[in-house]
Amino acid sequence: MSVLILAIESSCDDTSASVIQDGEVLSNCIANQEIHKLYGGVVPEAASRAHQVNIVPVVDAAIKKAGIKKENLSAIAFTRGPGLIGSLLVGVSFAKAFAMSLEIPMIEVNHMQAHILAHYAEEPKPPLPFLCLTVSGGHTQIVKVTDHLKMELLGSTIDDAAGEAFDKAAKLLGLSYPGGPLVDELSKEGDAERFTFTFPKVGELNYSFSGLKTQFLYFLQKEEKLNNKFIQQNLNDICASYQQHIINYLFIKLKKAVAHYNIKDVAIAGGVSANSCLRKTLEKTGQEEGWNTFIPEFEYCTDNAAMIAITGQFKLEKGHLSDQSATPSARMTF
Ligand code: KG4
Ligand code: ZN
Repeated sequence: MSVLILAIESSCDDTSASVIQDGEVLSNCIANQEIHKLYGGVVPEAASRAHQVNIVPVVDAAIKKAGIKKENLSAIAFTRGPGLIGSLLVGVSFAKAFAMSLEIPMIEVNHMQAHILAHYAEEPKPPLPFLCLTVSGGHTQIVKVTDHLKMELLGSTIDDAAGEAFDKAAKLLGLSYPGGPLVDELSKEGDAERFTFTFPKVGELNYSFSGLKTQFLYFLQKEEKLNNKFIQQNLNDICASYQQHIINYLFIKLKKAVAHYNIKDVAIAGGVSANSCLRKTLEKTGQEEGWNTFIPEFEYCTDNAAMIAITGQFKLEKGHLSDQSATPSARMTF
């Protein structure tokens, strides 16, 4: 008999529901929250309230699009963490009620593990073991994936995430939220070598992005003092140079990890893996260094419930279930 899983993702500001059948994605519906654009960043209270409004219609849409009956579902998977507590609570509570009413098992999923396992929603699937650079709005990690559910954190940011570095810089440039995709777009017409920034000194395979934010702020303040139209006149070059700097920095550590662990199957995951320059750089570096590279489809880069469903399927196969005592967790390790 086939395994049908409904999954819920509500860790930040996207409400998503997905149905998969034996690992094949039948639907992956996402409701974005426009309200945060007004504030230039995610407002937790507003995110929680918007999830509350969106969750039933999004689940309904995912079930209808999949063309299934909810009574035929085998299990429900949900994001337990990491994320914003008020946002996670909505998904966890919904999953509990849904599981109870249908008398089906619940599967809790780690959001960061799911970003990585999104690669198993499509071909080619990375062989084990592989390394994954996971870059999102809240995390920047280099992970060794030994088995689908066995992951080791090799390095991570000690402060801000790469996505945050994109979003905060975009805000300083007067761009809307989320700024990452806008910086990406504006960079396409810019000179990436025009402006330079310095790298922080952080040990091993760890990253730091908070200093870069300050560096960028001082750079803009200095230039705007000399020419109050500096941003306006140089927007494409500023974006391209800043984006290039982040990507160069990500790759310094990623190359170090590949050399140290001698694993040449290398993937990227998370919202920032949608960045066109990051995707091209991985492909090019792979060709130069002899790596096999894995780049997710756009649909599976930013937050989505299909990745939660895929992870749920791996956990269900191993019998890793949760129950009505499940609670959301703002911080979670592998
Ligand atoms: O994985 P995700 O959807 O949510 C978290 O788990 O945090 O990642 C969101 C982040 C945001 O910071 C957003 O600006 C960034 O991913 N992002 C991008 C691009 N698309 C999304 N950053 C750079 N270039 C992009 N094309
Ligand atoms: Zn995410």
